[in-house]
This record gives sequence, C-alpha cells and structure tokens, in this order.
Amino acid sequence: MSKNLFSQSTPVVNEAGSTALPKGHRPIRTFVLRQARMTNLQHDAYKRLMPQYGIDSRTHSWQATGFSSNSPLVLEIGFGMGHATAAIGKANPHIQYLGIEVHSPGVGALLARIEEGALDNIRIIQHDAIEVLKEFIPPGVLSGVHLFFPDPWPKKKHHKRRMYQPWFLDLVYRSLKDGGYVYSVTDWEDYGEQMLEVANEHPGFTNPHGGYSPPISWRPKTAFEHKGLKKDHQIREIFIIKKPLQGESLQRPE
Ligand SMILES: C[S@@+](CC[C@H](N)C(=O)[O-])C[C@H]1O[C@@H](n2cnc3c(N)ncnc32)[C@H](O)[C@@H]1O
Repeated sequence: MSKNLFSQSTPVVNEAGSTALPKGHRPIRTFVLRQARMTNLQHDAYKRLMPQYGIDSRTHSWQATGFSSNSPLVLEIGFGMGHATAAIGKANPHIQYLGIEVHSPGVGALLARIEEGALDNIRIIQHDAIEVLKEFIPPGVLSGVHLFFPDPWPKKKHHKRRMYQPWFLDLVYRSLKDGGYVYSVTDWEDYGEQMLEVANEHPGFTNPHGGYSPPISWRPKTAFEHKGLKKDHQIREIFIIKKPLQGESLQRPE
C-alpha cells in the first residue's frame, strides 16, 4: 500500500454519528455512541497516527486510499478494540485490511497496535459501516468481510437494528468479488439463527457448510467473545461465499 497518500493529507475524523439509510428502509442505526473516554495511550495514538492510517470516507476518493488491486482487501466491520484485527493483519502481511469502527477508544487502541506491530497492511475508517458500504467502497473490490460479534440488540423491538439482515448482505454482495466471503460470528443464539436464515436465503451467496461453520482456526478470540464465553454462551460461526448471479436480481420489493 502506498504510505504517502495517507500521510499527505490529514483528514479530520469526527466522532461518527451518522444515520444509515439502506435503500427502501427507514433509517437504521446499528450502534449507540457511548461516552467513553480514551486512555492517554489511545489518545496519543489517535492524534499521531490517524492522519497516517485513517481514511476519511467523506473526503477521500477511493483511489487516494492507496489500496492495491494486486493483493486481497478484507473489510472488518465493528472491530471493537482491534485485538483480532491486529492479530489477523500481522499473520497475513500479504493481505490488506480495512477496519471500520465508530468508537474513538477502539480506533485509538487499534492505531497503537498498528504502530507496536509495524503493521502497514491495516487502514481504518471511523464512520458508520453501512454508509461506507453504500457510498465509498466500489463494487467488486473486497475479497472478504469480517463481522465478529456484531451488537446483538437482544430485545425484540430492537431486532431491526441488527446489522445482519438481507439488505446488509445486498450491500456486501455489491462490494465483494465473485468468490469473496462473509465471515460472521455471534454468541447470541437467536442472532446466530437469524444470520443463518438470512445467509441461506440470499440468492447471491452459497453456504459451503449448509449450517454453521466449524470454528475457523485462524480467527483469534475477540474481547466480546471472551465476555460471551464467561456467560457460557455458545459461539456460532457463519461463513458464506459470493456466487455470480445468473438471470437473477437482488432488487427487493420496497
Ligand atoms: C459487540 S461489539 C464487538 C467488537 C469486536 N468485534 C469484538 O468482537 O470484540 C460491536 C462493535 O461494532 C461497532 N459497530 C456497530 N455498528 C457499527 C456500524 N454501523 N459501523 C461501524 N461500527 C459499528 C460498535 O461500535 C462495537 O464496537
């Protein structure tokens, strides 16, 4: 990845607070911005490193990101404190990773990990991932999408705020290359069931496992996974692959 293109500009990265508007749906926000303070380390990393590793999806052009079309690009949505992002990025230096997160402490934490591990294959966008998918990421550029422990929104009246829904897979489908994957994991039983149903019913994806995927060994445990395991929650993994559509359409009735 070209470093210069990042360091040339110093994008102003605001606390993200946008509202996503998936086509044909009422505004949906899949997150709540908590008033969490950054530690000194996170704050320092954020100030120094965001101009270098951050991408402002509202002012940068895709070309200016420096992503090379010669190596795979994998998107991670909601990386939290970035443990898994940094570990996966370190283990796969030939793959480019784009992490999206709205919370500043997590962004600062991942920036500190990037510096500590000299990881030049990770870039960060601090903004609503749904808007980034809709407005910034071009069609057919992603090799994979990671969605590890998305907010479960356990109350039934909040289920509409869950990320993994048919319109989300439509957005992801557009940005993936043929053969690209979506790898999601949750410790919430009914969210796992919802993911599986949405995945298996989507015409643009195939599920090589039919049901849940066996645990994928290269994924490190995340912070939210540890919390779920402490409560004896079972971990459910869903791994699906984009197939080219032939004579079918993703258009859904409004
Ligand atoms: C339950 S946490 C999981 C964090 C991490 N993946 C883990 O497993 O430890 C979900 C994360 O997704 C982020 N998130 C939710 N909706 C988002 C969106 N639309 N755009 C960007 N980040 C989002 C939240 O801020 C939160 O940090």
